[in-house]
Amino acid sequence: PLVSTGEIVGAAAAARRGCGAFNAIQLEHITAIVDGAAAARAPVIVQLSQNAVRYHGALAPIGGAALAAAREAGPDVAVHLDHAESADLVREAVGLGFGSVMFDASKLDYADNVRATREITAFCHDHGVWVEAELGEVGGKDGVHAPGARTDPDEAAEFAAATGVDALAVAVGSSHAMLTRDATLDFELIGRLRDRVPVPLVLHGSSGVPDEGLAEAVKAGMTKINIATQLNKVFTAAASGDWRAHPDRVDPRKYLGAGRDAVAVEVRRLLGVLMLV
Ligand code: G3H
Ligand code: ZN
Repeated sequence: PLVSTGEIVGAAAAARRGCGAFNAIQLEHITAIVDGAAAARAPVIVQLSQNAVRYHGALAPIGGAALAAAREAGPDVAVHLDHAESADLVREAVGLGFGSVMFDASKLDYADNVRATREITAFCHDHGVWVEAELGEVGGKDGVHAPGARTDPDEAAEFAAATGVDALAVAVGSSHAMLTRDATLDFELIGRLRDRVPVPLVLHGSSGVPDEGLAEAVKAGMTKINIATQLNKVFTAAASGDWRAHPDRVDPRKYLGAGRDAVAVEVRRLLGVLMLV
């Protein structure tokens, strides 16, 4: 069934476990994420980024598909708008029935980030929607890796209080869209953030973090773990492998299906890592 992100993240935080938030860019990702969660017997968050929406040209077709898949699903599935910089897109997602959004004003300076995030959070809360924001920009979104960025714990605590957000994405050593899984996280900083910040913490750029680092990050206090690139790597390897093995086939369901099935297996595996089982 469709559940709220707040429910999944809240339960994971209370149990000091991680929860997986996986980015979908097409229907095959959505069904693979749901199938992987069913196999892991875990709840899962399907998220669509503003970039993915741009690829589709509109939110409603892919967003509606994610919501429908969640409603039909065996496991608990939440649908989340990821990295929205547009307030209009946030409003549209709320109207469509998304239970949560990430409003990303991390490129703005501190005061402007607070102002913009506070305003959108008030709107979302009026509609019962859970909000994640970001402080201390996690690099790599524009192709420029900045694993050195760090979020200051005191500023993060002040930001959470000033904006009223429900969760906070923090910079602790990861960077978006890494193709190698060798990022080193600042576990000591994660512990200090956990002690100071009253809302669940979100790790972005998790594809670059090895399995042991993800488990360690959860133990140190991260809760929502965002994973995108790793699924795309797995999807493309399986789909292109199938296509190369059978270059004479023309039915896209063959190679898309191979990609989808491989992603489901990887989601199941990663959920096991995050749940510390
Ligand atoms: O918001 C999405 C994530 O931060 C994903 O990052 O592609 O490096 O796993 P990633
Ligand atoms: Zn991210």
